[in-house]
Amino acid sequence: MREIAVFGGSSHPALTAEICAHLAVPQRPVLLKRFANDCLEVQLQSNCRERDVFIIQSLVRPVQEHLIELLLMADAARGASAARVNAVIPHYAYARSDKKDAPRISIGGRLVADLLVTAGVDRVLTLNLHSPQVHGFFSVPVDHLHALRELAGHFRQRDLSNTVVVSPDLGYAKSAAAFARRLGLPVAAGAKERVSDSEVHITAIIGDVAGHDVIILDDEISRGTTVFELLDRLREQGARSIAVACTHGLFADNALDKLAASDVTEIVCTNTAPLEAEHPKLTVLSVAPALAEAISRIHIGESVSALFD
Ligand code: R5P
Repeated sequence: MREIAVFGGSSHPALTAEICAHLAVPQRPVLLKRFANDCLEVQLQSNCRERDVFIIQSLVRPVQEHLIELLLMADAARGASAARVNAVIPHYAYARSDKKDAPRISIGGRLVADLLVTAGVDRVLTLNLHSPQVHGFFSVPVDHLHALRELAGHFRQRDLSNTVVVSPDLGYAKSAAAFARRLGLPVAAGAKERVSDSEVHITAIIGDVAGHDVIILDDEISRGTTVFELLDRLREQGARSIAVACTHGLFADNALDKLAASDVTEIVCTNTAPLEAEHPKLTVLSVAPALAEAISRIHIGESVSALFD
């Protein structure tokens, strides 16, 4: 069997280290140089020849820097005769740019997928893409994991006898329903319209939340605009308590502090994005075991779909 070689970009060293620890493989060194003209250069400082190379890089802030770094690492691995170049992208930020919903706009999700393939990426492993069809933007195989098992495992320890799962929008209702099914709970969804990056309207909630304990489930919390709008509707409709869960806890613009200062009982996310802030209301669940398991299965050619169950 070919040797595995795991490299990490600079976006999330803690997650890379945790994945390598689960895989019981060393993390291979990478040298990143920035020239006076601001261009980057990457050197993979370990043999790639005929290796199964995995490059771990989450597309988190500064997204463009981390993206270029990932592209350069893939290019370096391909140029060093890697047998296969696998990009492990726990958070694929450009997934939100997935449709032409205004005149003359770019569709970054597709473009970045093409750039990765052009750079030499043969396979992608990612988690909870903003919409499932983004998977189809890639012309190479994509293993698209979710974090529902981790999130459901957390809430399973709670008394859920009066609980309902609420998706902020109909687009995520299917995932929320899958999460609710794992916990044996009913599901409801908001009728959401996004006006801009910082403004959303949720005009109604489809389903019964009055008097219930609510778990809001979303793919990501960025500015928190969606969650704050949903909190208003849920309070108006008489929800008894509200917890918030998501896969990608990005928490831009102090969203974590603002959310923690509200009446939500808890905030749960995973570590697909690095989190500097801590808060007693916040629980961060690790996706490193799932990613390590997927990497191991990809490496030995076993089915990854068992991880979706
Ligand atoms: C949007 O459609 C997504 O599902 C999330 O609701 C959104 O990305 C969250 O962003 P924000 O927290 O800025 O509303």
